[in-house]
Amino acid sequence: MILDGKLVAKVRRDQLAQRCEAFKKKSGRRPGLAVILVGEDPASQVYVRNKIAACNEVGISSVERRLSASATQEKIADEIRALNEDKNIDGILLQLPLPKGLKAEPLTEMIRPDKDPDGLTMDNLGRLFVGRPRAISCTPFGVMKILEHYQIPLEGRHAVVVGRSQIVGKPMAQLLLAANCTVTICHSKSHDLESLTLLGDIVVVAAGRPELLGKSAFKKDAVVIDVGIHRLSKDDGTTKLVGDVRAQELDGWVKAITPVPGGVGPMTITMLLENTLNLAEAHL
Ligand SMILES: NC(=O)c1ccc[n+]([C@@H]2O[C@H](COP(=O)([O-])OP(=O)(O)OC[C@H]3O[C@@H](n4cnc5c(N)ncnc54)[C@H](OP(=O)(O)O)[C@@H]3O)[C@@H](O)[C@H]2O)c1
Repeated sequence: MILDGKLVAKVRRDQLAQRCEAFKKKSGRRPGLAVILVGEDPASQVYVRNKIAACNEVGISSVERRLSASATQEKIADEIRALNEDKNIDGILLQLPLPKGLKAEPLTEMIRPDKDPDGLTMDNLGRLFVGRPRAISCTPFGVMKILEHYQIPLEGRHAVVVGRSQIVGKPMAQLLLAANCTVTICHSKSHDLESLTLLGDIVVVAAGRPELLGKSAFKKDAVVIDVGIHRLSKDDGTTKLVGDVRAQELDGWVKAITPVPGGVGPMTITMLLENTLNLAEAHL
């Protein structure tokens, strides 16, 4: 079975559009997301453009604050302070990575936790850890919504997460634990990775390594979530997108898998919208 993230994203975005309309009726304004983009990184520009288009699609008003690559730490901090005070702004997103020489963590930490739709501040990560979540990191939150949509049973199942980043692996493991999975977390220092992933009824691969795992890494009828996304050059000069999993080997072997593209990717932006709306509703 293909776990179609594009489809789940569409269903959720339709619901979000209705909720945004209801929010506007109640508050007299639209939910507001501010995106801070520092520098000219082409990939970041595309991501920001996509986020703004997605906001427009569901009825979230968005503002973009563009700063030059030479902006100082203090200049970006000033921008965040102003947006923290702005009553029309419910979510502030600092697009990462920042240009060289700038430190991301002290800046993301300045974002008011009740305006942090990426769920990246320590406050929001801590809330997830103690079981009182506010904004949940968008990619793992999106994975949970895909599992929920396809009614994949979680309770009592063994979930293996490959990767322990702050933004994907750790919150992913926490969410699966909260859903009563038994959770194993693997990372680059784990010995014999495949012996661990083979234990998983559900395996979430977020290692950032193109086509790292194939058929020998998964037990029969596992559910595989491929978070990785990489653009590889082909011999004929064209490019193709691949994940962290060699999906072509898994046909007829695993029970379900997210495709790349069209799996986890579309859910990440959708959950950014959902987090922004949730924060806006809490601001009423
Ligand atoms: N589709 C989406 O919307 C979306 C969103 C976010 C990220 N992504 C993609 O997901 C992937 C992961 O993102 P990330 O931000 O979590 O990456 P990251 O910060 O680079 O973290 C990668 C994690 O994988 C672990 N790892 C690396 N090589 C490994 C190996 N050979 N075996 C086992 N573990 C290994 C690392 O271990 P250590 O901690 O030991 O270094 C680290 O914890 C990337 O491909 C990224 O592009 C996609």
